[in-house]
Amino acid sequence: ARTVKLAVIPGDGIGPEVVAEGLKVLETAIAPHDLAVETTEYELGAKLWHRTGETLPDSVEQELAGHDAVFLGAVGDPSVPSGVLERGLLLRLRFDFDHYVNLRPVRLYPGVESPLAGVTPEDIDMLVVREGTEGPYAGAGGVLRKGTPYEIATQDSVNTRFGVERVVRYAFAKAAERPRKKLTLVHKDNVLTYAGELWQRTVREVGAEYPQVAVDYCHVDAASMFFVNQPARFDVVVTDNLFGDIITDIGAAVTGGIGLAASGNINPDNTFPSMFEPVHGSAPDIAGQGKADPTATVLSAALMLDHLGVPEAARRIEAAVSADLKSRGHGVRSTSRIGDDLAARVAEQG
Ligand code: NAD
Ligand code: IPM
Ligand code: MN
Repeated sequence: ARTVKLAVIPGDGIGPEVVAEGLKVLETAIAPHDLAVETTEYELGAKLWHRTGETLPDSVEQELAGHDAVFLGAVGDPSVPSGVLERGLLLRLRFDFDHYVNLRPVRLYPGVESPLAGVTPEDIDMLVVREGTEGPYAGAGGVLRKGTPYEIATQDSVNTRFGVERVVRYAFAKAAERPRKKLTLVHKDNVLTYAGELWQRTVREVGAEYPQVAVDYCHVDAASMFFVNQPARFDVVVTDNLFGDIITDIGAAVTGGIGLAASGNINPDNTFPSMFEPVHGSAPDIAGQGKADPTATVLSAALMLDHLGVPEAARRIEAAVSADLKSRGHGVRSTSRIGDDLAARVAEQG
C-alpha cells in the first residue's frame, strides 16, 4: 500500500476540534483504497509561543517539508498579539512552501439556505484562485517617525511577473477544464494602476493560449457586489492575495457560512507539501464548546485527497457532505456528532 505522510497542525481555538473530525472522515474515506495515512501531529500555535516565544522553529519547518501534505486547523489567539501567529506560522508556511495557489471553491450545496433570495446551486459554483505568496501579504513596507503625529506606515503590494503569471496560468488551466470555461480577473486597476496593469497584461497574454476560455474583468468593489446580487456571473476567478481573502469570506457567507468553506494552499509544482485548511479562523468565541461546524475542514480534506491523487475518495466525502447538508433540520449537532455522521455517510458509499 502507498503511504501518505501527513503533518497535522491542529493549532488554536476550534482548530483541534475541527481537525479531529477532518481526520476521522479522511480515514473512513481512504479505507477502501490501497492507501495508508501516517499522521504526525505538531503542537504549534499559541501554547508553544507562550512557552518558548517561537512560532515555527526551523527544525520543525524542515520536518514539515518532508511530508506529503499538511493539514491545518487554524491559528490565532486573543492572548497573542495579532499577527504573531498568523504571520509567523501560517503565512510563513505559505511563503516558504511556495503555496502560490490558494484554491477556494465557492459552491452552494443543494438544500443549504443562502441568505440570497432565489438562488439555486446552479447559480453559485465558482472556483476562486487566490494568489498566495505576494501582494500586500509579502510584508514589504515599514514605519517612519513611529509614535509621533507624523508617523507614516506603508504596506507595499508586491506583484512580480513571475508570481502573477504562474497563478494566472493555473487559473486558465482550471477554467479550460470546466463546462463554462470563463475566467474573471478581479482587481482594482482604476486605482492600483501599476499592479493592475501587470495583472491585466498577463491575463491577456496567457489568455491568447486559451482561446476557448472567455475572459472577463471586475473591479473588486463591483465583484463584492456581484458575489451577492449576481453570483452566476462567475466561474473561475483569479485575484490578488488580499482581494481573494476578502471575497472568499463573502463567498462563504452567501453559500451557507464560513463553517462550510474549504481551502487548499497549493504548490502545483510539488517542490514542497501543499497545505489544506478551512477558510475560517480559530473562532475563540465558540472554542472548546463543541459548537464549531467541522464541514469546512472535512471538505478541505477532500481537496487534499484530490491533490494527492485519490479523487474517488474526495468525491465520496463531497457526496457525504452534500447528503448531510440536504438532511439538516433545525436540530443542533455537536462538532463530533457532525463528524460521526459524515464518516458514517462516507462509509455507506464505500
Ligand atoms: P473566525 O473565522 O475565527 O471567526 C469569525 C466568526 O465565524 C466567529 O463568530 C466564529 O464563531 C464563526 N466561525 C468560524 N468558524 C466556524 C465554524 N467552523 N463553525 C461555526 N462558526 C464558525 O475569524 P476572526 O474572528 O476574524 O479571527 C479569529 C482568529 O483566527 C484571529 O486570530 C485570526 O487572525 C485567526 N484567523 C486564522 C485563520 C487561519 O488560521 N487560517 C483564518 C482566519 C482568521
Ligand atoms: C485566511 C486568513 C489568513 C489570510 C490570515 C489569518 C493570515 O484570513 O486564511 O483567509 O489573511 O490569508
Ligand atoms: Mn481570511
